[in-house]
Amino acid sequence: MNWLGDWANLLLRWTHFIAGIAWIGSSFYFIWLDRTLTAPAIARPGVEGDLWMVHSGGFYQVEKRRPGPGEVPPVLHWFKWEAMLTWITGISLLVLVYYLSGAYLLDPGTARIGRGTAIALGIALLVFGWLVYDWLWRSPLARQRGVAAGTSLALLMGVTVLLCRLLSGRAAYMHVGSLLGTIMVANVWMRILPAQQQMLDATRAGRPADFTLGERAKQRSVHNSYMTFPLLFIMLSNHYPATYASPANWLILLLLFVAGAAVRHAMIGRGRVAKWAVLPAALALAAAIFFATPKGAAAPASAASTSVPAFVTVRSVIAQRCLPCHSQFQSDGTFGPAPGGVTFDTPESIARLAQRINVRAVETKTMPLANKTGMTPEERELLGRWIAAGAPLR
Ligand code: HEC
Repeated sequence: MNWLGDWANLLLRWTHFIAGIAWIGSSFYFIWLDRTLTAPAIARPGVEGDLWMVHSGGFYQVEKRRPGPGEVPPVLHWFKWEAMLTWITGISLLVLVYYLSGAYLLDPGTARIGRGTAIALGIALLVFGWLVYDWLWRSPLARQRGVAAGTSLALLMGVTVLLCRLLSGRAAYMHVGSLLGTIMVANVWMRILPAQQQMLDATRAGRPADFTLGERAKQRSVHNSYMTFPLLFIMLSNHYPATYASPANWLILLLLFVAGAAVRHAMIGRGRVAKWAVLPAALALAAAIFFATPKGAAAPASAASTSVPAFVTVRSVIAQRCLPCHSQFQSDGTFGPAPGGVTFDTPESIARLAQRINVRAVETKTMPLANKTGMTPEERELLGRWIAAGAPLR
C-alpha cells in the first residue's frame, strides 16, 4: 500500500508541476505581451496594439483588439484548464500527504488538536478563505484599493498566525499556499472566465460588448500576479526547515510574502517608481533571513558539557531515535525506505550527514518527525556537541 501511495504522490506531483508551469508560464507571457504591445503605426479599428516576435525559428505577429458586434472568431483559444488541473492535482496532493497519512499534519510540540479537527479546519479555511476574499473585493470597500489590499493582508496574517499555532509548521505553510492557490484558481474560473463569456455572448448576439467587464476581471488577474511568487516559495518551503520550523515561522512566511509580492511589483509595475519596490523586497528578505537563523546553541554551562561525546553514545542515540525510519531495515513503515534519501546504518553515513543531522535534529528540531521516537533535549544537545567537535568516529 505504501509504495502505491508513493507512486500516487509522484504522479500527482509531476502533473501538478507541469500544469503549474503551463498556467503560470502562459500568464507571464500575457503579462509581458500586454506591456510590450505598441499602438500600430497606422490606426486600425478596434486594434489596441500589436507586435512582432521571433521564436524557435518562426516569426509571429500578434494583435490585441476588441471584436466588434457580431464579430465572433471562428476559433477562439481559452486558457483555463492549466489552472484547473494545477488546482485538482494540488488539492489531491494536500489530501494524500497531509490528510490521509497525517504524519506531517500535526506536531505535538505545537498544539494538541486531533487529526479530524485539523482536517476540518484546513477544508473550512479553503472554502471560507475564498468566500471572504471574494466578498471583500466585491464590496464597496474595494473602491479604496489600498484599504482593501491592507485588509486582505491583515486577514492573511491572521490566518497564518492561527495555522502556525495549530498545525505543524510545514502543514501550516502548505495550507497558506493552498489558500492562495485556491483563490487564484477561483479568480480565474469564477470571475475572469465568466466575464469573458459575457463579453463573447454580447458580441455573438450582435450587441457591443461591455469591455469594462474585462477591466474588472483584470483586477483579479493582477491579484493573482502578486500571489504567484509567494505561492511558489511556499510550494518549495518543505525543503527548508529553517523557515517552517522556526518559532517565528508565521513572521518568516509573511516577510517572504512581502518580498515575493514586491519583486513582482518591481518587475511588472509601471513607471520608474515601481522599480524601487526592490528595496522593501530586500529588506523583507533580510528580515526573514534574520528571523530564520536558529539561535546559536546556548553557551556550554560547565566543563562537562563541553567534552566531546564518544561515538558509541552518539550511535546509540541515533539507533534509538532515528533508525526506526532512516534504515534499510526500518521498523516504522509510515514512509518508504530511506525517507529523504537518508539512512544511518553505518558510522560513515552518520558522519557524512553530520551537518544535516545538526540542522534537523539540533537546530530546527524537525527530526525525528513530530518527535515520534521521543528524542529528549539532552540527546539533541549531545548530538550538537559531537557535531561541533567535528563529528569524530571515536
Ligand atoms: C517517523 C520517521 C522519522 C524519524 C524517527 C526520523 N526521521 Fe528524518 N526523515 C523522515 C522523513 C519522512 C523525511 C523526509 C521529509 C523531510 O525531509 O522532512 C526525513 C528526512 C530526513 C533528512 C533528510 C532531509 C534533509 O533535511 O537533509 C535528515 C538529515 C533526517 N531526516 C534526519 C533525521 C535524524 C537525525 C533523525 C533522528 C534524530 C530522524 N531523521 C528521525 C522521517 C523520520
